Amino acid sequence: MTKLLFFYFYLSCLVSIAWRPQHASADFVRKPPRPIVFTPHNRPESHPQQVHVSLVGKNYMKVSWLTDESHVASTVDYGITPGNYEWSSATGEQTSYSYFFYTSGKIHHVTIGPLHPATTYYYRCGGSGPEFNFRTPPAGFPIEFAVVGDLGQTGWTNTTLEHINATDYDVLLLPGDLSYADAQQPLWDSFGRLVEPYASRRPWMVTEGNHEQETFPFIYPNGFKAYNSRWPMPYQQSGSQSNLYYSFDVVGTHIIMLGSYADFSVDSDQYKWLATDLAKVDRSKTPWLVVIIHAPWYNSNLAHQGEGESMRVAMEEMLYNAHVDMVFAGHVHAYERFARVYDNNADPCGPVYITIGDGGNREGLAMLYKEPKPSISIFREASFGHGRLRIVNNTHTHWSWHRNDDSVATVSDEIWLQSLSSSRSCILKLQQKVQITQTNDEL
Ligand SMILES: *[C@@H]1O[C@H](CO)[C@@H](O)[C@H](O)[C@H]1NC(C)=O
Ligand SMILES: *[C@@H]1O[C@H](CO)[C@@H](O)[C@H](O)[C@H]1NC(C)=O
Ligand SMILES: *[C@@H]1O[C@H](CO)[C@@H](O)[C@H](O)[C@H]1NC(C)=O
Ligand SMILES: [Fe+2]
Repeated sequence: MTKLLFFYFYLSCLVSIAWRPQHASADFVRKPPRPIVFTPHNRPESHPQQVHVSLVGKNYMKVSWLTDESHVASTVDYGITPGNYEWSSATGEQTSYSYFFYTSGKIHHVTIGPLHPATTYYYRCGGSGPEFNFRTPPAGFPIEFAVVGDLGQTGWTNTTLEHINATDYDVLLLPGDLSYADAQQPLWDSFGRLVEPYASRRPWMVTEGNHEQETFPFIYPNGFKAYNSRWPMPYQQSGSQSNLYYSFDVVGTHIIMLGSYADFSVDSDQYKWLATDLAKVDRSKTPWLVVIIHAPWYNSNLAHQGEGESMRVAMEEMLYNAHVDMVFAGHVHAYERFARVYDNNADPCGPVYITIGDGGNREGLAMLYKEPKPSISIFREASFGHGRLRIVNNTHTHWSWHRNDDSVATVSDEIWLQSLSSSRSCILKLQQKVQITQTNDEL
């Protein structure tokens, strides 16, 4: 057994040497990262581990977990008082996957509901093991999102997660790069255990980064095996064909998770899906429109320069015409907030672009910036931390960035923003733009 394990680690090291994130760039100096925290498994084999929850359609929650033992039922018992499970759901599914010599435990996904808003549910997975609890999002504003990308699993990650948990929030949004397993599959399990105390309490909604790809020439050309098996998001519910991009509504907010590592060209499925999805948005029901990607379209850090450019060129006009309020990205391990921007110029009707790839992964920080600072970049800093988007009503939201300042959360940047759907001048401007385009088409 020990020999086998050693053999496995030896092979996975070879794999991770051969495997490279497609966009890794090493020509910038990073602050020393904290060491990887490996979170061991210390429960019996039939007990749930790596429990996390995600929103799936209106008033439903998906509970996901792993068991080493394969005969555990995919059931969730739940209720609104501890230890008292009035409801039970057995409509779940089980899966597992293999990657080279690694075979995952049994992965369970069970959707439960309908659930009441703003309610704490106590639940147990597979009929054994500890009780967990989560709270559903509120029925109306205000709603608070925690936003953090490029988490990884280091001492910094731990600090970031503690800070996120120390102040209450409703839903966590993760713009890609979760475990940094980079083909070493046991690190996916370790990541699942590290985040369980947080991801089992609040819904975590994620999209993929380059570290989720885990492609390998000829053997795994399409990649995303671990990611898609472990972190399925509600893509079918939003008419998407792929777990790599989807959308969902929560409390007056339509959130679109785009895939920086799925085809986004004009004739791609993702592009067509985005056009359809944007056309369906009803701003009287969801006055706020937020988009999440991994590789930033606007970035004045020297790291990953230009990597989001082809996606920006393909999709930016669609987002602009739809009056997207904010676009969050990860990938660059730093924080940066831009002005409202369209096509590289400040534009009062464009989205605010924010890079929040500062969760705390093992690669460390991206310290070097383009000088002088472009005028559209308002605030930039290479520190670990996380963001908070508190939407207070139809027209106003508060954004804040919380730096991990010597392990203490410090508010370092904050701003009030107004929704574009409430801006008369932007609505008028767009109507004029559409008219001009139509006239040009007729000529
Ligand atoms: C991570 O955070 C937990 C919970 O706050 C703490 O008990 C643990 O010691 C931390 N581990 C490391 C390696 O920092
Ligand atoms: C997260 O916060 C809740 C509420 O304050 C607390 O009960 C829980 O222990 C915290 N979790 C961790 C892992 O620190
Ligand atoms: C929305 O919230 C902002 C900020 O708190 C406040 O100034 C404004 O009056 C609120 N609007 C409504 C309609 O309540
Ligand atoms: Fe990345």
